Amino acid sequence: MTNYGDFQSEIFLQGLAGNPPSHPIAFADLERAAAECMSDTALGYVAGGAGAGGTMRSNREALDRWEIVPRMVRGVTSRDLSTEVCGTTMPAPVLLAPIGAMGIVYPDAEREVAQAAAGLGLPMILSTVSSTAMEDVAPELGDTPGWFQLYWARDQDVAASLVGRAERAGYRAVVVTLDTWSLAWRPRDLQAGFVPFLTGEGLANYFSDPAFRAGLARAPEEDVPSAVLHWLAMFGNPGLSWVDFNWLRQQTSLPILVKGVCHAEDARAAVDAGVDGIVVSNHGGRQVDGALAAIDCLPEVVAAAAGLPVLFDSGIRGGADVVKALALGARAVLLGRPYVYGLALGGGAGVLHVLRCLLAELDLTLALAGHASPAALTPAVLARRSG
Ligand code: FNR
Repeated sequence: MTNYGDFQSEIFLQGLAGNPPSHPIAFADLERAAAECMSDTALGYVAGGAGAGGTMRSNREALDRWEIVPRMVRGVTSRDLSTEVCGTTMPAPVLLAPIGAMGIVYPDAEREVAQAAAGLGLPMILSTVSSTAMEDVAPELGDTPGWFQLYWARDQDVAASLVGRAERAGYRAVVVTLDTWSLAWRPRDLQAGFVPFLTGEGLANYFSDPAFRAGLARAPEEDVPSAVLHWLAMFGNPGLSWVDFNWLRQQTSLPILVKGVCHAEDARAAVDAGVDGIVVSNHGGRQVDGALAAIDCLPEVVAAAAGLPVLFDSGIRGGADVVKALALGARAVLLGRPYVYGLALGGGAGVLHVLRCLLAELDLTLALAGHASPAALTPAVLARRSG
């Protein structure tokens, strides 16, 4: 068992030896430093959101409205942060969120991220629109679990092929993202006239896919623009229905989770459709502007989920946010933008730094608030800020 908070002593000892941390510790500093080293277009793509950014702001404001009520003298010498979700055990309740097209941020991005995840044993969820094909990322994970995030293509043969490949490559769950069957109105990308996919960035899983390639007159290596157009025509599936999950279930023996659920009725529909888990998320405010903060959807989804594991993302920036999400019923959280900023600053080493900081802060916050494991967290450990 690791007390992740010990990273604090390591940092101080290194500092004493004249080696202060080479990457920022506080999220605001991390964000600022990453912004300085990223291209304008990459920064706009990663940091930007839908519309006026209202949902992104709400995600943070709503997390801030929940407050932890610390308890004292509770025997928290050693902590156990480990948890299990859909058959995947993890040393702490943190997964790396699927982030597409990370190649615009750092060379060989997904392999760098996978190495960092493997350094701590934290599961990585690989995006369908990754810059490196899933089979080439999987070996970097070693024994560390990888999950595959599915954008359910309109072409069912391609959807089936992607899922089959993920299972064969060793990924241990399929996370179907429901909220992004089309890109939203994202002013920063629109102003820059930039979206990675139009040049083929982020399409490695498609370009390497036999079912996708079967629909092309010329191979992607010979004709990228035509391959991109073919992809555009099939990327999203606005007509998806819950009944289609019967079909998906026949394509794979892996657990199936759905990501992007924000309403109790959708959670109930997901349960009835036979999924194995639910991710409460508004995609970090990148899809529907003016939407409810994701954390404010969490309790009602947990109540409707009939005991299925519920994960959470959208706004997690530090250890206290993780404690709050777990207290409101999440089994684990997905970390998004913060690790991408670490990637921008230092590749895999930068991601590892961000993850170690998060785990240390989570461990210390949990213990200082009087709890020794995620299981001890219930809504009773939180209060709602008045006013
Ligand atoms: C995402 N997200 C995402 N989700 C998904 O299911 N598939 C994907 O390919 C992507 N791609 C992606 C790219 C970028 C640049 C960002 C910032 C986000 C959403 C991601 O998984 C997660 O839901 C959010 O990042 C959570 O919000 P915060 O905490 O990062 O603000």
